[in-house]
Amino acid sequence: MNFELTLTQQEIQQTTRRFAQEEVAPLARETDESGEFPIHLVKRMGELGFLAATIDPTYGGSGMHYLSYTLISEELGRVDSSVRGFLAVHGSLVSLCINDWGTEEQKQHYLPKLATGDWIGCYCLTEPNAGSDAASMESTAREEDEAYVINGEKIWITNGGIADVALVFASRDREKRHKGICAFIVPTNTPGFHREPMPGKELGHRSSSHSHITFNEMRVPKEALLGQPGEGFKVAMSALDHGRLGVAAGAVGIAQACLDASVDFARRRRQFGQRIGDFQMVQATIADMTADVEAARLLVYKAAWMKENGLPTTRHTAVAKLFATEAAARAANEAVLLHGGRGYSNEYPVERFYRDIKGLQIYEGTSYIQRIVIARDVIGREEK
Ligand code: CAA
Repeated sequence: MNFELTLTQQEIQQTTRRFAQEEVAPLARETDESGEFPIHLVKRMGELGFLAATIDPTYGGSGMHYLSYTLISEELGRVDSSVRGFLAVHGSLVSLCINDWGTEEQKQHYLPKLATGDWIGCYCLTEPNAGSDAASMESTAREEDEAYVINGEKIWITNGGIADVALVFASRDREKRHKGICAFIVPTNTPGFHREPMPGKELGHRSSSHSHITFNEMRVPKEALLGQPGEGFKVAMSALDHGRLGVAAGAVGIAQACLDASVDFARRRRQFGQRIGDFQMVQATIADMTADVEAARLLVYKAAWMKENGLPTTRHTAVAKLFATEAAARAANEAVLLHGGRGYSNEYPVERFYRDIKGLQIYEGTSYIQRIVIARDVIGREEK
């Protein structure tokens, strides 16, 4: 067992850290306030090879190790979860999913343009009545000659307002529950595809583009199918196995940022005639945060290593996401308290981390769902 990053991995970490500090962090507060996604960063991430990090160079990817992908996600998560969230959806839920399930033609057509950021991807699974229970989706795909006609509604679709390509899940036979679901790759300029921003103002990830999407007699050719008809649920779940790794790594980034900010503040802030970092209660808080960050990072690295080695990772990515997001929520909660009144204002970034982390505990499967995935794998399902 070797706990050291390779030289290549260290370089990727440094490159991302520089990009995050110099190009992402300076915009984070402003875009959080304006709600505008910093779209120019997409092409920059393409140039840096982040958008298709683990995809083969044949399809425009960077051919990186999954561990390198988690390093990128951690560094971006450390400064801006909206930008990191963009990457998890675009790079994992969409590109890696097409890479896993696409035909040669689909891969050649979509992956290079997604790798450069010329095209942006979104993943349309969640519906008003099908959130955690994804198999109960109500969107339908009716077979007609050489086409499918899709009708339905999706909500909370990250990147929805800026996407050129959507992965769409719809059922051709709702009686069959998950076995009726099909996955489609759909250009967003297809007639019948409509999108609008989600109503209301989000708690966190305020610069992410979150959309309400409807499909109205949207006709797509049979070649738009990703995987076989009826295989769509597996396509969706396997994509989430990739996506959850990036979310877990992003949570490590948030936890690390909360720790860094707390240590800095504990050294500078003086009360009762001494640094607040010299009080045992503050020390205990920082010690717990440190232990949480270390443990979460190791779980993320292990899941990435397993993925790289072709081992089943459903349980391990769920463990990493569950632990890392809960640990980061604890860290953000403590960081705001430790900063006192300053932590309660967006003068300091811990306020944004505190709001953003709730999103990571919810999307790509809530902490409840991660526990279900883990427990089912550990206990096993009863034979019926
Ligand atoms: N990979 C491949 N196949 C899988 C799988 C995986 N990870 N997990 C399950 N499957 C397969 C099972 O093997 C089973 O196959 P068979 O029919 O051959 O036996 C089939 O899928 C059905 O599995 P389950 O019986 O476990 O299905 P379920 O209905 O009980 O649901 C669940 C399981 C884990 C709860 C699942 O519904 C789930 O993950 N829900 C959460 C959904 C979610 O994460 N939504 C987030 C949306 S995306 C987002 O948030 C980002 C954005 O931008 C929109």
